[in-house]
Amino acid sequence: MLNFLGTGLLSSFAQTDPAELFDDYCADCHSIGEGDMKGPDLLGVERKYNEDWLIKFIRSAKTMISSGDKKAVDIWEKYNKSKMPDTNLSELEIKSLIQYIGNLNKNKVEVITSTPSNENKSSVSNSTNQKIENLNSKIDKYETELQNFEKKIDLILEYHKKSFSARITDEEINRGKELFEGDRPFTNNVPVCVTCHNTFKIDSLNWNPSAHDIAKVLSNRDNMEMSTIIINPSSNKMKEVLKDNKLTDDESFYITAFLQSIVKPGLKEHKKIPIKLILFIIVCILMFISFFDLIFTKIVKQKWLNITVCFVTAVFIGNTIIVNARNIGLSKGYTPIQPIKFSHKIHVKENKINCIFCHNSPEFSIESGIPSTNVCMNCHNKIKSGEMTGQFEINKIKKSFKNKKPIEWIKIHNLPDHVFFSHAQHVNVGKIECQTCHGAIDEMDITSQHASLSMGWCVKCHRESEVQFENNKYYSNHKELHNDLKLGKINNVTADKIGANDCAKCHY
Ligand code: HEC
Ligand code: HEC
Ligand code: HEC
Ligand code: HEC
Ligand code: HEC
Ligand code: HEC
Ligand code: HEC
Repeated sequence: MLNFLGTGLLSSFAQTDPAELFDDYCADCHSIGEGDMKGPDLLGVERKYNEDWLIKFIRSAKTMISSGDKKAVDIWEKYNKSKMPDTNLSELEIKSLIQYIGNLNKNKVEVITSTPSNENKSSVSNSTNQKIENLNSKIDKYETELQNFEKKIDLILEYHKKSFSARITDEEINRGKELFEGDRPFTNNVPVCVTCHNTFKIDSLNWNPSAHDIAKVLSNRDNMEMSTIIINPSSNKMKEVLKDNKLTDDESFYITAFLQSIVKPGLKEHKKIPIKLILFIIVCILMFISFFDLIFTKIVKQKWLNITVCFVTAVFIGNTIIVNARNIGLSKGYTPIQPIKFSHKIHVKENKINCIFCHNSPEFSIESGIPSTNVCMNCHNKIKSGEMTGQFEINKIKKSFKNKKPIEWIKIHNLPDHVFFSHAQHVNVGKIECQTCHGAIDEMDITSQHASLSMGWCVKCHRESEVQFENNKYYSNHKELHNDLKLGKINNVTADKIGANDCAKCHY
């Protein structure tokens, strides 16, 4: 009986012997000091983490990982996301395991350093052991110091981050602006940002994003992140710019301040001097003076001089008024800045993409239509960066596609509502090339309106363009409609002769 009790107790003790526990529960995946197996080498693990954490982790790594514990997730990711199985060991058993691993670790140091004297144990000098003891305790001391130090750094970083997110002062914004626009030199030889990123509205083409463009894209991040991106941009184009010379932390912070400050107001416009208006007023005054002198004051003796001045200025004024009046409502040359720097030249000319690929309805319907984001994505899910704009513009397509928010293209051609125009009639039936009406659009980096779209423009072309009767399905189907066809007179029939210039054809 006693014997039985004794063995029973013994065996239950044997169960908690940490070496055996380790062999039974852990050794399949872990070694101590013999390198990684399925799981990491556990040598020194008791110093890497505090005990509480280790207990929780060993009991259930899965819980720790799914609760998002940073350290646990890090290890899990490092080990190819293989999870350690949970154990049902008691806290005491786990503690003894941790101690065991720790002890083994210390033993390892001793074994390694004392190997040469192993054959002759008695010759192990006490002083060597003493030294090792001292060294071990020193290591422990340094490690606690290191841990404290790391905590301090975390605190400082936290503080820094908070102060970074605090309100930015006008002084800082101004500095950033000066750096960005080249009015204040960079510490290192960094190229001036404004040479590529304009800070004023411009109406010519700049392939690079404007300062406002980048500010907008980065504005959903806090100042700290934004500042980090400015020092360490992801785009290849910017990496190239900062290849040889780096921005300092301060500089990137000031630039961040500046960029944040323009997110809302956008770019300013250069004050335009209305040269034409000033010229017009000067000419008016000139005319008035010479007219006044001619009739009343007669200071200039040569009458012909005054008469000539009056005549020339009158012609100028009259002409200006007529030209301006005629252009009311017309917008030839209209070239709005579009939300994406889309270039017909790059797509049509350089990459030989057919108009119909994108404007896929003019062949058969009234509206030509601007392509939807889906059309762009046909290609741009693979083509992720362009030669001129890098990833910046193409990213906008991706964003529009992801957010299901259509790109807000600005419509360029706008006939008044009372005019009816059909692409099908002109392109399919009339066999007129797109370029006849839209100009060399395949040469345009920014799309602009080529023709005036005035009534005169339509009517004139109808008088000059011959109807294409031959090999034209439209006409072979409706032969009876046209006398000219019945009579076989199919040469020199211009569009106006078949009624294209009837008021009702163009006006509802
Ligand atoms: C089936 C294999 C397996 C078993 C059995 C196993 N582990 Fe693990 N262990 C892993 C893997 C894989 C990781 C790393 C991935 C993770 O976080 O789950 C790990 C990670 C660890 C870590 C963190 C190590 C580090 O360097 O950060 C400790 C500590 C640990 N295990 C202790 C134990 C103990 C103690 C036992 C026995 C009670 C045990 N493990 C049993 C597979 C296992
Ligand atoms: C040589 C022209 C050039 C100069 C000079 C230049 N940039 Fe850029 N920058 C670009 C282009 C092009 C892009 C867009 C590239 C892309 O997204 O692929 C860009 C993009 C950026 C971006 C967005 C980067 C990202 O990863 O989202 C930031 C921020 C930026 N520039 C800041 C600056 C600052 C600050 C300066 C001045 C120190 C500067 N740039 C000078 C051409 C330039
Ligand atoms: C890769 C697609 C694509 C191709 C190919 C393409 N376009 Fe476009 N086109 C667009 C987009 C996008 C817009 C709107 C943005 C703009 O105005 O630049 C547009 C605008 C236009 C406009 C102005 C529309 C308005 O707002 O009034 C005309 C006209 C036009 N395209 C004609 C053509 C012609 C002609 C061709 C062939 C020579 C052609 N396009 C080829 C995509 C394309
Ligand atoms: C049939 C394929 C195709 C379609 C459709 C297409 N693209 Fe492109 N796109 C290209 C190719 C090819 C390039 C040239 C890439 C390069 O520069 O190497 C390009 C380049 C670009 C660029 C960068 C230009 C540069 O050089 O930096 C932008 C911006 C762009 N496309 C916008 C659009 C938009 C917006 C649409 C939809 C209206 C669209 N694309 C539809 C093929 C396509
Ligand atoms: C006979 C002249 C003419 C020809 C040829 C012509 N267009 Fe147009 N296009 C116009 C006029 C006029 C408008 C303005 C229509 C409006 O505002 O209702 C226009 C508008 C457009 C628009 C603006 C979008 C819209 O629906 O209003 C696009 C895109 C376009 N044309 C593409 C093309 C393409 C592509 C071709 C060749 C396949 C072509 N056009 C041939 C005269 C022409
Ligand atoms: C480049 C020359 C050209 C221009 C510019 C042009 N047209 Fe036409 N148009 C034609 C031709 C050619 C036909 C005859 C097509 C056919 O065979 O029915 C035609 C036919 C028409 C018809 C159909 C007449 C019928 O018999 O049904 C209408 C309507 C029309 N045009 C309206 C316009 C309007 C509106 C404009 C200006 C916004 C315009 N066109 C500009 C060449 C032109
Ligand atoms: C080939 C097509 C076409 C025919 C035929 C045509 N028009 Fe027009 N008409 C237009 C276009 C395009 C405009 C708009 C352009 C503009 O604002 O100048 C216009 C504008 C007008 C306007 C408004 C002018 C303004 O300044 O807003 C009047 C009025 C008008 N047409 C009357 C007529 C009368 C009357 C006839 C018959 C004799 C006629 N149109 C035949 C195409 C046509």
